[in-house]
Amino acid sequence: MSCRSQLSSWQSLETLAEEMKNVHLKQLFSEDAQRFKHFSIQLPGLLFDYSKNLITVKEMNALQSLAQETELTAWRDKMFAGEKINFTENRAVLHVALRNRSCAPIYVNGEDVSQAIAAELSKMHAFVNKVRSGEWKGYTGRVITDVVSIGVGGSNLGPQMATEALQNYADETLRIHYISNADGVQISKVLKELNPASTLFVVSSKTFTTSETMANAKTAVAWLKSVAKDDTAIAKHFVAVSTNLKKTAEFGISSENVFTMWDWVGGRFSLWSAIGLPIALYLGFDAFIQLLEGAFEADEHFKNADLSENVPVIMALLSMWNTTFLGAKAQAILPYDQTMHMLPAYLQQAEMESNGKSVTFTGESVPYTTVPLLWGMTGINGQHAFYQYLHQGNTIIPADFIGSIKPVVEVNNHHEILMSNFFAQTEALMGGVTAEQVRQELSSKGQELSDIESLIQHKVHKGNRPTTSILLDKVDAKHLGKLIALYEHKIFCQGILLQICSFDQWGVELGKGLASKIQNELENDNVSAEHDSSTNGLISYFKNKRA
Ligand code: F6P
Repeated sequence: MSCRSQLSSWQSLETLAEEMKNVHLKQLFSEDAQRFKHFSIQLPGLLFDYSKNLITVKEMNALQSLAQETELTAWRDKMFAGEKINFTENRAVLHVALRNRSCAPIYVNGEDVSQAIAAELSKMHAFVNKVRSGEWKGYTGRVITDVVSIGVGGSNLGPQMATEALQNYADETLRIHYISNADGVQISKVLKELNPASTLFVVSSKTFTTSETMANAKTAVAWLKSVAKDDTAIAKHFVAVSTNLKKTAEFGISSENVFTMWDWVGGRFSLWSAIGLPIALYLGFDAFIQLLEGAFEADEHFKNADLSENVPVIMALLSMWNTTFLGAKAQAILPYDQTMHMLPAYLQQAEMESNGKSVTFTGESVPYTTVPLLWGMTGINGQHAFYQYLHQGNTIIPADFIGSIKPVVEVNNHHEILMSNFFAQTEALMGGVTAEQVRQELSSKGQELSDIESLIQHKVHKGNRPTTSILLDKVDAKHLGKLIALYEHKIFCQGILLQICSFDQWGVELGKGLASKIQNELENDNVSAEHDSSTNGLISYFKNKRA
């Protein structure tokens, strides 16, 4: 497998990137009156406008050649065919199977997994209906009023992001709470407001060994037992989602209360599995199916659309163009929709845990920049926080602007105010403000010439900052499912283009292992001599002060 940077498309892209350093986006817009038409794609319910990126047909052709030279479509087909493309863990990568709404079978190791997926969905459906209808009772015979989801990372971010995004569609049946942090402040705040007799816990952990999740689950069991005084109450108040049936049994959760997932579902891509149970409990099973259907539409688009019209492929190519070739180090995610306020955090895990790596498929150091630091927050709030940096900072940060046509809640003209900011920001980031414009503006206000000249450089905005705009018809379950799946496929494509294994997370595993050793030292008298002097110093300082 040759190094990516030796491919001929790569070398053309390096030359094109050098040339692009002297080009301004404004120039590209003035040279092509149809630029929006040429560089935007409409999918059902979604507009993707990438015309405010520093590309022309030439760059897009070279990027598509790179996709061809890296055999992107062959890798995509391997993923859909259940091949073990997560080769560092010897696993298939089949979150797409979870939302396969066609009748086509999906094979892993020669076995059709669609039956098992359908069976798990039916089990979820029946359970959700029982809880929501009040048929499922707590240990005193009370109906369930509150669901507490305990899990972290991929076992938390997806469900929490989706329930936040879709909360306006929830009825009054159940309240939902999330606990992810080992910090006792979080669990104690949640439990303080709840009644054990009407609370259901969903403990979500693919491995069922993650220490923060296990600590929170044990605290929740103790809280229940402090009033129930009887172990049989656990069966009425605890269900689990995991691949590790041995551990769930050891924990005391009986098999009928365990929802399964599979090793071919990565944690950060697992919201489509039973990890999505809190979503289904909160919003009803139909909404969960809508989410799967939206994602399935995105899968079909990714599978079938030509590279030149394939949204996730283009998203990945642009990320690479901006980062690897034009040198951006960060990427902002800016939802102009309050309901999507957790999207930046969700995508941060999805992209950075997947592709924040620096060796190739074959273990050599990558000689190029891979993925950017990904961050963001809701657009309007960001405008009053960090947009100054986006407009006039001396590094360029490409940004994804995400908004909707129809707000979930219409209040007076709020949506027009919100979206006028979205459009104004992308326009300003692209075009900037020239010295001449500043001069004219200030002199029209009657400002002294000497004052104008001293202010000009401070008020100049160079512009030329790439943005991509995504407009959803509405943030509902189907559109959200589609949006998330498009980003998932972007991440997959980035991995192939950059030659990075996107499906392991050894960096996170390292932290997990180290923390459990140190926990032992904090809770016991033993102190390891293995640490460096700083870590030893910190541990002893902490222990002395705690004593
Ligand atoms: O955050 C690291 C990670 O390993 C994720 O990949 C995973 O989603 C999360 O921990 C939680 O793991 P588990 O579901 O096994 O508790």
